[in-house]
Amino acid sequence: MTGITPSGNLHIGNYFGAMRPAIEAQERGDNFYFIADYHSLTSVFDADARRKHTLGVAIDWLACGLDPKRSVFWRQSDVNVVCELTWLIGSLTPMGLLERAHSYKDKIAKGISPNFGLFAYPVLMAADILLYDTHRVPVGKDQKQHLEMTRDIAIKFNEQYGETFVVPDVEIREEVAVVPGLDGQKMSKSYNNVIEIFADDKTMKKRIMSMVMDSRTPAEPKPDADKNIAIQLLKLVAPTEVAFEFENQLRAGGLGYGDLKKALFEHCWNYFAAARERRKELLANPDYVESVLKNGAQRAHAVADQVIARARKACGLR
Ligand code: TRP
Repeated sequence: MTGITPSGNLHIGNYFGAMRPAIEAQERGDNFYFIADYHSLTSVFDADARRKHTLGVAIDWLACGLDPKRSVFWRQSDVNVVCELTWLIGSLTPMGLLERAHSYKDKIAKGISPNFGLFAYPVLMAADILLYDTHRVPVGKDQKQHLEMTRDIAIKFNEQYGETFVVPDVEIREEVAVVPGLDGQKMSKSYNNVIEIFADDKTMKKRIMSMVMDSRTPAEPKPDADKNIAIQLLKLVAPTEVAFEFENQLRAGGLGYGDLKKALFEHCWNYFAAARERRKELLANPDYVESVLKNGAQRAHAVADQVIARARKACGLR
């Protein structure tokens, strides 16, 4: 299972952190992917933007290789019992657990004025996971604590009311867990340091060329070449040998940052070329995309309805 919040256009941090592992996992087992439109309510307050981003994220996932025949793909709010489950498990979730959430504390530290939804975010996320008897949730490092909270909540409920929920495993994709953004911090929309997957060529190039490097001359050897952000990103979008060749050149001296960034742009552009073509077709067929999501919701309901019935019964609501 993976969920993506439709808070804006997808960037390559989303792709390597969450989407690619999820898409690759389609080769194995049953997969559940949803667009977390309820989660977006905590931070996006424009209804049209939410609708647009929700459809946009659906299109982008399908373009990047999500196969709706093999995977269950739906819009979170089409299976609204997830909100009921949030209440059932939220009533057993200690305040202290939520107060310790890094993502919440980070947002407060940034001066974002918190709402109840933001505070309860990890409980809704736990409900997403528990509602589908999920075993594995591959995510980036930043979501690790949320998954640990999900486990804590599931264990607590099971102890209180008897075995009800599957306790999921946490799977962190170490090698790509945090994709650096243009400024070296984690790539994140809220840091305004992203490279969007489907930016047009001019925009993508401009973004990449705007990366801030240090003032060493091209000729200078750079023993810290592996720390260079462009090199780190190149390792994701270029063949391994190519990325290492650039890294070695940078380390030895003689490779200018401008040329490195140009190479990064070329590889990044080509990496997503096939997806870009598929996306064009999907953009012209919004009805098809909607029917995919509706069908996914039906399949998601088939599982969710059983689990919510089990949970209601366990805690004495039925
Ligand atoms: N919090 C996740 C993120 O920001 C999105 C998400 C919501 C999610 N519910 C989930 C991810 C359930 C995995 C499982 O990326």
